[in-house]
Amino acid sequence: MCTDPASAPPPPVLHDVDPGVVFRLEPADAVTVTTLIDNVTDVFMPDQGPARRPGFGAYRAGAAASMLGGRGLDSLLAEHGFSVLVTIAKNGTSHRILFDIGATPDGVIANMDRLEVDPATIEAIVVSHGHFDHATGLDGLIRRLGTVHLPVLIHPHFWRQRRVVVQGRDPLEMPTTSRRALVDAGFDIVEEQRPSFLFDKSVLVTGEVARTTGYEPGFPPQQAWVGGRWEPDPLVLDDQALIVDVKDKGLVVITGCGHAGVVNLCRYALRLCGGRPLYAVLGGFHLNGPVFEPLIPAVLDDLAELAPSVIVPAHCTGWRAQHALGARFPQAFIPNSVGTRFEL
Ligand SMILES: [Fe+2]
Repeated sequence: MCTDPASAPPPPVLHDVDPGVVFRLEPADAVTVTTLIDNVTDVFMPDQGPARRPGFGAYRAGAAASMLGGRGLDSLLAEHGFSVLVTIAKNGTSHRILFDIGATPDGVIANMDRLEVDPATIEAIVVSHGHFDHATGLDGLIRRLGTVHLPVLIHPHFWRQRRVVVQGRDPLEMPTTSRRALVDAGFDIVEEQRPSFLFDKSVLVTGEVARTTGYEPGFPPQQAWVGGRWEPDPLVLDDQALIVDVKDKGLVVITGCGHAGVVNLCRYALRLCGGRPLYAVLGGFHLNGPVFEPLIPAVLDDLAELAPSVIVPAHCTGWRAQHALGARFPQAFIPNSVGTRFEL
């Protein structure tokens, strides 16, 4: 099975927004982004700029029969997944959104407990795309909360059954979220291809992202089960970002896996928000492995033009891109780790 992006059929029509339409966000007084799940946990990572680390503060005593006194330390755990809690403060009020919810059923809930975040305080969930490493923790949330009367914002392709096909290997089918399970749990499922405001224009969810760079390929080895057979599905059209405008600073853009392309995502955010400056970009940039690493120089050049003050490449970004970003943007680059709170 070929994974060459050139062999894929032409992309479907994008549900793009008229370039003249501006989604004017009402600036927040402050935004806090707390990492609940990421690929990295590191208790010695120091505070840096807006990043506050929990250190051993989140390490509580736990039972360990092999240790003297039968006590050890619990630890924040990392996994190949992503989840952040976004708290938006505006005019004396605040709202809490969960953006993505990790790869395992219990990872996010367990780290919430360790960080003393009450899941009952979440007011909405946005899932960046349908891949399991951003969605499976809904299971743990449902078991913890019982009936969940929360809006969950997704793109319609979120439900697609997908597999990864790499030459020389067996196809790897990815777990897919059950619509029935979410409906039965009480979620208010909001499927949208276009941008959506949340909380009185405090937050903008991009919906489908215009692919304008020409070099960010989506996820070429992906196929989807459509019309009774496996079809190429390289674009991951469900990939969306969350945007908040912070007063006197600019836009905070949060990506999940960045399958739309981190430059595409940032440019689209700027276009939707009428030219507000890019202040921070956080999340997965998906620049690992032989398909994506050759894109790193172009991504760095284009990010340099956008000049964000804060760059937090997380999750699937890949170590070569992490190193390159750190070298190119020594002031803006901040490494992520589970439990880090970014006060933006
Ligand atoms: Fe991912």
